[in-house]
Amino acid sequence: MAGGGTYIDGFAGRGRADIEGEDRPGSAALAIESRAFKSLLLYELPKTAKALATYIEQNHKKAASRCLVRPGDCNRRIPEDLEAGLVPKDKPCFAFLDPNSTQLSWDTVVALAHYKAGGAPPRECKVELWILFNTHQALMRLMPRNPGPDYPTSPQAATLDRVMGAREAWWDLYQAEAGAGLYAGRYAQRLEQELGYGAARTQRILDPHTKAPQYYMIHASDHLAAHKFMYWAENATARDRSEAVRLPGIGVP
Ligand SMILES: C[S@@+](CC[C@H](N)C(=O)[O-])C[C@H]1O[C@@H](n2cnc3c(N)ncnc32)[C@H](O)[C@@H]1O
Repeated sequence: MAGGGTYIDGFAGRGRADIEGEDRPGSAALAIESRAFKSLLLYELPKTAKALATYIEQNHKKAASRCLVRPGDCNRRIPEDLEAGLVPKDKPCFAFLDPNSTQLSWDTVVALAHYKAGGAPPRECKVELWILFNTHQALMRLMPRNPGPDYPTSPQAATLDRVMGAREAWWDLYQAEAGAGLYAGRYAQRLEQELGYGAARTQRILDPHTKAPQYYMIHASDHLAAHKFMYWAENATARDRSEAVRLPGIGVP
């Protein structure tokens, strides 16, 4: 889908990932190996960015000229790079956003969603999004069962505002003691209704051993072929590959 286009990895890692004790290619390595992208913008915090740049230099020398490692907070750097025109608007763009917990700000998603807005799908599509929405290990833990009177002005509530985009994006769900799936559903709904994506879907990802829900993968696209990607998501869940880093639709083994 993104052939000849740009790959954005907001939380790119160091090139390799330790998955259940096994050393496997991380998302940036998979994107490079797929050869699906003309250019790759790889965002990471400075220390890990250095390790990633070294990894690429040592293991993917030929691809190094296609890769731009961007050290720093992706919430600042992605909008700056979009503003600077680093991503061609006339080519597909695919963004994989895989934070550890609550690092992805809604404003960053807005910047990506608006960047290529206004085209005529399927020829001209918005930036396609794959977002790891960290419900169980992060967001739900910021919502106490019995909140004190200061909770609405607490750092936890402010973090939820930043991640969800606004107080009204989550407060009613919290008041209703909603489960994690409804927060993921709300996020997807806002991708469609507020940011204009043709379709946004959520896929619950389970722990392969305990089968306990871990997080949701959220996919937003206005490309007709997006449904194909949802089959990928279903397969990924059915095979319980929850911890494996898999990039849909780009021929990763
Ligand atoms: C879950 S890991 C991503 C793993 C990666 N996708 C892979 O396959 O190896 C999250 C990464 O995001 C980085 N990170 C955390 N906050 C960040 C931020 N604000 N901007 C960019 N990267 C960040 C962390 O250093 C960590 O390597």
